[in-house]
Amino acid sequence: MIDKYQHFTLESLTPKLGAEVHGVDLARVSADLFAELADAFHRHLVLVFRDQELTRAEHKRFARLFGPLQLHPAKTRLGMPGDPEIFDIKINADTQVANGEDWHTDLSCEPVPPKASALYITQVPPSGGGDTLFANMQEAYATLSRPVRDMLLKLTAYHSGYKDLRAYGVVPSLEQIYPCANHPVVIAHPESGKPVLFVNEPFTEKINELTAKESAAMLEMLYRHIQINTRLHCRVRWARNTLVLWDNRAVHHHAIWDYYPESRQGERVTIQNDAPPKAFINNHGDGELWRR
Ligand code: SIN
Repeated sequence: MIDKYQHFTLESLTPKLGAEVHGVDLARVSADLFAELADAFHRHLVLVFRDQELTRAEHKRFARLFGPLQLHPAKTRLGMPGDPEIFDIKINADTQVANGEDWHTDLSCEPVPPKASALYITQVPPSGGGDTLFANMQEAYATLSRPVRDMLLKLTAYHSGYKDLRAYGVVPSLEQIYPCANHPVVIAHPESGKPVLFVNEPFTEKINELTAKESAAMLEMLYRHIQINTRLHCRVRWARNTLVLWDNRAVHHHAIWDYYPESRQGERVTIQNDAPPKAFINNHGDGELWRR
């Protein structure tokens, strides 16, 4: 589908998720252009912008149009060097564990996880590869059976930053407190009110109301549902100077490390959400959507 906004042309990646936006320079975004971009973001959840020549300041300025930037806890809590507003993607032949190589949402361990992320890739592997997959978590919830959907509405889950760090072999010292938080398993999207499945393997430790075995089995079933349902997915093939903006509340992403020993490089900023995730409440069965 091709949509013509006044300030750009937009081409869907799939009917369910993602779109490429043609004809904008993210270093120069007027108020009118921003209003149209915000509408496209709301509808498509993942927006791809090609051929952007951005300084770090311009990258941040564009992201700040959507809200203040979030500081990354690896820099503020663990003392990793560098600008705390920037999450560096630097993968090369020396990398042991590539970042984001699993379905996840960024920093769901935070009491207020980010609204969105904007990743700007400046170096792609010369032989190709390094694509990123995205999955629509509104569709993930909607495509579960009714009894499972109903049961999930009553549940909350514990998200732990320590679980994520373990996967990278990082062990914080006792003084280095890393974020952890409880969130509803099904959240209401703050803008659309739609129910969103909000668990992810790197951060979600346990569903609080279930026994350990029940929780592990339930989470495994949900992760498999996300992985195998290709109709939830879209795939972004990066080129140098591509920026992708995604709705971190409503989509998962998965970076593919299929280019070893070549390099891939870029910088990500995350945008703060206004409030903690709220449970989706559906008092009327199929009907209206409620927010707590
Ligand atoms: C991430 O934000 O998890 C990394 C995504 C990517 O490198 O494509």
